[in-house]
Amino acid sequence: MSVLKIVGGRRLSGSVRVQGAKNSALPMLAASVMTEGISVLRNCPALSDVETTLEILRHVGCRVYRDGDAVYVDASGPISPEVPDELMRRMRSSVIFLGALLARCGEAALSLPGGCELGPRPVDLHLLALRALGAEITEAAGRLCCRAGRLRGGHIDLPAVSVGATENAMLAACLAEGTTVITGAAREPEIQDLQAFLRAAGALVSGAGSGVIRIRGVEKLRGAEHRIIPDRIAAATWLAACASAGGSVRLYDADPGRCGPILQVLRRMGCSVSTGEGLITLERRGGLVSPRSVVTRPYPGFPTDAQPPLMAAALRARGTTVMIETIFEARYRHVPALRRMGADVRTEGKTAVIRGVERLRGTETAAADLRGGAALAVAALAAEGETVLGGLQHVDRGYEDLAGTLAALGAEVIRI
Ligand code: UD1
Repeated sequence: MSVLKIVGGRRLSGSVRVQGAKNSALPMLAASVMTEGISVLRNCPALSDVETTLEILRHVGCRVYRDGDAVYVDASGPISPEVPDELMRRMRSSVIFLGALLARCGEAALSLPGGCELGPRPVDLHLLALRALGAEITEAAGRLCCRAGRLRGGHIDLPAVSVGATENAMLAACLAEGTTVITGAAREPEIQDLQAFLRAAGALVSGAGSGVIRIRGVEKLRGAEHRIIPDRIAAATWLAACASAGGSVRLYDADPGRCGPILQVLRRMGCSVSTGEGLITLERRGGLVSPRSVVTRPYPGFPTDAQPPLMAAALRARGTTVMIETIFEARYRHVPALRRMGADVRTEGKTAVIRGVERLRGTETAAADLRGGAALAVAALAAEGETVLGGLQHVDRGYEDLAGTLAALGAEVIRI
């Protein structure tokens, strides 16, 4: 089992390239199974969640290989509609294969995705969307069996905002007969990115980025080439790291236009933030002040995935910060470890109240989930002494090289 050893107190300085977006790569790789050709995804991050997705693709019959940051998926051969339990359980977002396989094969059999690290994460909205397109779905012993023959376009009205359900609905509708209108769609940039990939593959889809997505089904999709957008949550993490440790960082291959709410919070904390084409720079010289209140919301609101690293940056900010988490129920699992580091954070239900402290101290701890793990690393950069951080399998799901990136910025961190 590897751990990170982080000795706090060093200011950060330097440049970091922002990796491609995990939350674009996963649905796009699933979508590639619907094409009858070879797709190329550039800027595809090297993450364990991406590896799991590639294993699923191989299992269902695709030929897959990676060349640098490009992943090639050849889905021109026969495709099996079944995903084994073991692969489904490794990663929640594997549920996106439901719409993709149903569209390609007319049927799909997979288990309910495992793990509920952020609290209950039901799939009712995914099933509602696919049923609206004519899928018959039965559930037995934790396994979902879906049949449709060819799906029929229809009206899918999502009663709550769900990124994954919107994506599943989009994928399924692309190969359905007739027109589909999705209302109540999530508006995340990664959904726009998925639309761009699907259009390159020949799908007739428009409206992503708004609450209404329209899709005219086509008979077939072809292999497509696409460059994945930058990961706004990885960007938020490097910026939070610099806010926490002090110093200055420059992010390139970033997308500042899609990081607005994150940059606003960092500015309210007293950081100087400037942006340019593909660039974000952040400088923190003096002490931090509390950003006062931060409420997570679906895009274009402040993203729930950026809440843990930004909370970690706010631990030593002067004043009181109130965070309200409106998306997931169990998104404060990093808080007990932050308290052991000397932070003054109290949570009740959706609310966390952070009172700035003068000092944090290093501790031995472990990540309980992906972004919570990043938060512990961000806090450790500002702590006195050494932090030993385990549970890195969670962190590896979403960061190409957390230790290497922080070390390149001058942090004292090694992975052993
Ligand atoms: C995606 C992101 C994740 C991000 C989240 C919210 C990917 C791979 N993951 O996750 O990083 O934190 O969006 O921005 O893109 N819900 C239901 N029923 C459903 C589906 C969801 O009640 O059928 C609820 C969830 O429990 C949660 C809320 O809806 O409370 C939002 O979840 P959703 O947007 O679906 O998140 P994911 O797509 O799983």
